[in-house]
Amino acid sequence: MASKTDKRNSTYSQLETGAERSKPLVHQNAREIQAYGRIAKLPIALDEKVCAASAENLNQILADTITLRDLYKKHHWQVAGHTFYQLHLLFDKHHNEQDELVDAIAERIQTLGAISLAMAADIAETTIIPRPPRGREEVPVQISRLLQAHEIVLKETRTMARQAAEAGDDGTNDLLVSDVIRTNELQVWFLAEHLVDVPVVRADEARAASAGR
Ligand SMILES: [Fe+2]
Repeated sequence: MASKTDKRNSTYSQLETGAERSKPLVHQNAREIQAYGRIAKLPIALDEKVCAASAENLNQILADTITLRDLYKKHHWQVAGHTFYQLHLLFDKHHNEQDELVDAIAERIQTLGAISLAMAADIAETTIIPRPPRGREEVPVQISRLLQAHEIVLKETRTMARQAAEAGDDGTNDLLVSDVIRTNELQVWFLAEHLVDVPVVRADEARAASAGR
């Protein structure tokens, strides 16, 4: 007669056998299904060469947008001074808007049948935005860095939007003009107004008097 222990052991061995198919198949590896730089053409009525050219431009804008997004988070964390709270919130708002652009640009690249850059090392190799130091900087320096990065993105995006329009890639042109350019321009306005040297509490009477003379 089987003991209680024997019964339990046989139940467990049955469970082990029954669990074979639910074991995760970890540590798998295989060749990649598409090499970077190659186009897996989708039926979007655009020539493969047009898709490749747009994707190459978009990957540059993607790398610079990811860098600008991360620069906002760095400044969100490291900001100091009497405008801390206001800038802490503003930098995060802009970060989130840049993050939405990152997703839209990357998905446009995939829609063109190409492969979007993704990982930090590849972004660092590709971006043309100057690398900031690891340490903290004063607010005017933080804002100057952000403005410089915005201008780099705006300059290349205007050129690339025109190239996309001329090639007939209206979808890319629309994304670059309606989303990337408009968002970056607006963010430049919000930042640049912080670098206007106006009095915080007391109006500058001396300056007003000398202007009236
Ligand atoms: Fe935060």
